[in-house]
Amino acid sequence: MNARILSIVAIVLWVVTIVVAGVFFIRGQVQPSSDGRQSIVLTESERNLVLTEMRGLLASVQGAVEGLAGNDMKRVAQAARPSGSAAAQQVPPGLMAKLPLQFKQMGMAAHQGFDELVIGSESGEPADMLLARLGNQIKNCVACHATFRLDAEAKVAAK
Ligand code: HEC
Repeated sequence: MNARILSIVAIVLWVVTIVVAGVFFIRGQVQPSSDGRQSIVLTESERNLVLTEMRGLLASVQGAVEGLAGNDMKRVAQAARPSGSAAAQQVPPGLMAKLPLQFKQMGMAAHQGFDELVIGSESGEPADMLLARLGNQIKNCVACHATFRLDAEAKVAAK
């Protein structure tokens, strides 16, 4: 094989790699499921990581509601901050590749929504406006839960 053919082969392989990586980034590792949602198939520990983050989001919502009910904006900021972008867990690359693009976008929107809640509650926004923000936030939670579920690989294999 001469050098020219070798370099063409190398370029083709490189393009194929980029395309495959791109397709994974957009589609993730999903399959249809019996309840009509898209099932994202993860390892047990990846699933645990995502669900742990989810429970953190719920705790933030709870704290923010409590703060708003008591007109305690410090409490709102304190509850929202751990779910903001800065505090969000670093997603390992292997897990990132399995999450569909839409999931990643909705996930980022969730963290940004908490950032905005922190800023709003620290800059004197009225409670009804903060509550409207939180309502929008929860709409995003509901939409994602209606679209996706998480299944661990072992369970899928046992079906
Ligand atoms: C990017 C998509 C997405 C967003 C946004 C999202 N979730 Fe989730 N969440 C999921 C998925 C998927 C599951 C697993 C559901 C399943 O397998 O049935 C889940 C599960 C959960 C669970 C269960 C945790 C456990 O231990 O079983 C809680 C609580 C939760 N989410 C809270 C929230 C709250 C609160 C918000 C909004 C502030 C939110 N989620 C936003 C996708 C999302």
